[in-house]
Amino acid sequence: MRLVLVGPPGAGKGTQAQFIAEHLSVPKISTGDIFRANVSSATPLGLQAKAYMDRGDLVPDDVTIDMVRLRLQEPDASQGFLLDGFPRTVPQAQVLDDILSETDGSKLDVVLELVVDSEEVVRRLSGRRTCRTCNHVWHLDFDPPTVEGTCDLDDGELYQRDDDQAETIQNRLEVYELSTAPLVNYYAGRGVLVGIDATGPVDDVTERAIDALRPLEHSPKRPSHGAADLPPLPDGG
Ligand code: AP5
Ligand code: MG
Repeated sequence: MRLVLVGPPGAGKGTQAQFIAEHLSVPKISTGDIFRANVSSATPLGLQAKAYMDRGDLVPDDVTIDMVRLRLQEPDASQGFLLDGFPRTVPQAQVLDDILSETDGSKLDVVLELVVDSEEVVRRLSGRRTCRTCNHVWHLDFDPPTVEGTCDLDDGELYQRDDDQAETIQNRLEVYELSTAPLVNYYAGRGVLVGIDATGPVDDVTERAIDALRPLEHSPKRPSHGAADLPPLPDGG
């Protein structure tokens, strides 16, 4: 399945992406994670992206698109993928369509929107802590580690992302409304959008996501068709 996760910063895209990708047996491709890995190894790409990320702005489309194009050419993505954090602008979405059609004539099967209000997003982002070693994501209130500041999985040090400071969160929300929210209409118009309520416990959200995707999973593989050609989905997408 070729799937895109869309939703505001802190909606739980990364949290859900790992479960959904595992369930579908497809690679999870997170542009934010790829940029952060490049920033921490100080590669030329990381140096280019860092200033934008620290401000909560989008990295320019050309840089991001080249990076995703290369990643999608890797063999593990040939039978499907889950994209987390890409596309994030309408031009990125248009290029993604071109990349798929040039590569093997395929199309996106579904765009899953995680719907959460901005108050909840701020709560989730302000309490997020990430392990420096294994990158596991915790939350101070909703999923706290047993020992403050230490990852339960490997005793790694937990850190707060630079872009999770209050002022940067505000900018990221504004950037989302301006540049990324229009994608919801873009994909709705193409008949591939499915929205789910992403509030409540993580496991409940995962269950809603998998339920919403089930009709697509059980359909015969039709690489050149999108959700518009399939039976109606539970959430009306
Ligand atoms: P990116 O890393 O993609 O950031 P984002 O979209 O702002 O999303 P987040 O990772 O902050 O949130 P999330 O939805 O993954 O939530 P999470 O699961 O962690 O991008 C970072 C930057 O990179 C961008 O600002 C930009 O500069 C650049 N970039 C990336 N892609 C780009 C692109 N395509 N174009 C241009 N620039 C790009 O959850 C958040 C917290 O909530 C966690 O603590 C978690 O434990 C908790 N939580 C999750 N689910 C629940 C739940 N159900 N209940 C309670 N708590 C929950
Ligand atoms: Mg994320």
